[in-house]
Amino acid sequence: MSEAHSLIIQDIKAKMGGRLTIMGHHYQNDRVIRHCDLRGDSLELARKVSGLKSEFIVFCGVTFMAETAAMLASDRQKVIQPSPDAGCVMSDMAPRALLDAVMRKLTTNGRRIIPLAYVNTAAAIKAVVAQYGGSVCTSANAETMLKWAMGQGDGVLFLPDANLGMNTANRLGIPESKWARLDISGMAKNVDSNALKDKNLLLWPGLCVVHKRFKPEQIDEIRQRDPDALVVVHPECHPNVVNKADAAGSTSLIINYVAQAPREAAIYIGTEISLVERLAKEYRNEKLVRPLFPSLCQNMAKTTEELLAATLQDLEGAEAVTVPKDVARMATVAIERMLDICS
Ligand code: 13P
Ligand code: SF4
Repeated sequence: MSEAHSLIIQDIKAKMGGRLTIMGHHYQNDRVIRHCDLRGDSLELARKVSGLKSEFIVFCGVTFMAETAAMLASDRQKVIQPSPDAGCVMSDMAPRALLDAVMRKLTTNGRRIIPLAYVNTAAAIKAVVAQYGGSVCTSANAETMLKWAMGQGDGVLFLPDANLGMNTANRLGIPESKWARLDISGMAKNVDSNALKDKNLLLWPGLCVVHKRFKPEQIDEIRQRDPDALVVVHPECHPNVVNKADAAGSTSLIINYVAQAPREAAIYIGTEISLVERLAKEYRNEKLVRPLFPSLCQNMAKTTEELLAATLQDLEGAEAVTVPKDVARMATVAIERMLDICS
């Protein structure tokens, strides 16, 4: 049956030609990614949308990515997410009302706090960030963007991924004594701007459940077995993991790291399993590629080949990804600010 889905997809793609573009994030499984015209990490996918001419953009990924594509696409383009229920657990950890409450608290004493949101957030969060003069970042440009945000005011609120915030601060040499992990419980009732006045990097306590499964002991165990093994991880992992790895970076950096590793190298990867398995297959005759631990993103896995085929069979009827106009207008300011700074 699955070959039938593949044939349906190929057939529709051939008939639609330039009217259709299928985009896919690197965490999509092999059966889906093989049909994608464009694949990339979050930053690459966002960058590619603006140059597209096709009428239909089918986005295989999670909702925050599809929303970003919808905001960057033109009014005459229709962005469709085959699995509209594919959210992101980390993104859900930063609801808009809570960000409003935290920002109000942080700025009561007149401090200019610049919010820097990871792109793994809802459009409504990106809109608030823009209102406060902030921007967004991805794992590929977090250093550039945090450096920029630090220069804009008295301090930065980095959200929602505390691990990415800490890993980026480490790379920029921002001392730990300047960080504070916020207690946002009870609608931010414990956030006290005066108690935080010596801190210039405020961390929202969010994380990715997929990357939380990687532990420093897994790296210790590998190094004991094979001292020559290479370890590369995503910066959503805890700093204790990142600090023990040979390299850390976006999904595209991980792909390039494996490509450039010497022949015969053993490479252990701390990121989502679909990407690791694809790399293991691709390099099976040259290098040993293994997961640090097999960790699946359930939301990324919601897009199946069957669902993609069904979506393509009813492009006209499929629901478009939409963002309310006022939210999209402000959120786009935040995204474009990032694209300009990193151009
Ligand atoms: P990248 O931007 O590195 O592709 O990561 C996106 C993501 O969701 C990682 O969990
Ligand atoms: Fe979200 Fe983590 Fe899945 Fe990435 S891997 S989409 S951050 S839950």
